[in-house]
Amino acid sequence: MILVTGGTGLIGSHLLFHLVKKGEAVRATYRSADTLDKVVKIFGYYSDNPSSLMEHIDWVQANITNIGELEACFEGINYVYHCAALISFDPKLYKTLAKTNVEGTANVVNLCLKYKIEKLCYVSSIAAVGPSIKGNVVTEENEWNDTHASVYGITKHDAELEVWRGSQEGVDVVIVNPGVVIGPGFWKSGSGSFFTYAAKGKKSFIPGGTGFVTINDVVSAMVALMESTIAQERFILVNQNLSYGELFQKIAPKLGVAPPTKKVPFWMLELFWRLDWLRSKLRGKRRRLTKTMAKKLYKQELYSSTKLMDAIDFTFEDLDAAIAFCCAKFKEKG
Ligand SMILES: NC(=O)c1ccc[n+]([C@@H]2O[C@H](COP(=O)([O-])OP(=O)(O)OC[C@H]3O[C@@H](n4cnc5c(N)ncnc54)[C@H](OP(=O)(O)O)[C@@H]3O)[C@@H](O)[C@H]2O)c1
Repeated sequence: MILVTGGTGLIGSHLLFHLVKKGEAVRATYRSADTLDKVVKIFGYYSDNPSSLMEHIDWVQANITNIGELEACFEGINYVYHCAALISFDPKLYKTLAKTNVEGTANVVNLCLKYKIEKLCYVSSIAAVGPSIKGNVVTEENEWNDTHASVYGITKHDAELEVWRGSQEGVDVVIVNPGVVIGPGFWKSGSGSFFTYAAKGKKSFIPGGTGFVTINDVVSAMVALMESTIAQERFILVNQNLSYGELFQKIAPKLGVAPPTKKVPFWMLELFWRLDWLRSKLRGKRRRLTKTMAKKLYKQELYSSTKLMDAIDFTFEDLDAAIAFCCAKFKEKG
């Protein structure tokens, strides 16, 4: 049986759909019952009968920071996909991020060892890959450096260290490092916020850019790596490196709006992150733009997925078609 942590998230829910359609026996973690509706909604994008597919999943309520709850998920499990994590770039949330992402992953790894799990797939991020040197393309081999990393990146990197520890202690592991995942349904977070922003017909866009990959490619690569004999390796999952301007050029026309055309100048970014810091200090608000985030927008890292394509003969799907699908689902929601 397969265990998926974070079954109610963008990646977890799509992975579950894929596994259930394949006829696999699956168990998944959730935290609160209302989040299961999100999964039904996601399944509904691809199936006429999402509720019946939900019945094929053994849902277990568990917080990954609660060892007792998590252990209750492991009986009879052979393979684990660890997708649960907290995504935030707010430095004020560092301790919460570390608790969920590092301690939570350590708990998953320890239980994989205790229950002699055959293979663990950990979903990390390109945020946990070292920066480029002299503008070269970023690969899995880039040396990690905390200095300009976000709090999110630091905790994802530290979580990877827990996974490598697990591999040293006896569990087979693969780590995937996806870029920004393009997928439908989660319109207020991650790539979903680009669709929400573009739909408002906004005029400005931030400079910089990053690596993008579709949700189907993330799921396909994870499953293919788990079914392969490959172990103790990490793989960057990036289909295309795009500037944010280029991404909006792809999204906006499909939403029937004009793309934003005014690039926010760097001096304004410098002003914004300071104002954001002040607003957060005075009013206790969540940080939306930190100094680290602003600095990252100055240059665009270029990511390579050559290692994945060579290792499992992987071909990425058409990013434009996936964006068109997301736009169609976005418009359907009204
Ligand atoms: N989305 C991206 O663009 C992207 C890119 C690169 C890497 N990743 C990585 O991919 C993984 C999945 O991301 P996602 O996009 O699916 O994120 P998401 O939509 O925010 O989902 C996160 C999942 O983790 C669960 N979770 C959070 N804290 C938990 C805890 N303490 N105990 C148990 N479950 C917990 C959430 O449960 P609730 O529903 O209850 O909140 C949800 O199911 C993460 O590891 C993330 O770092 C994502």
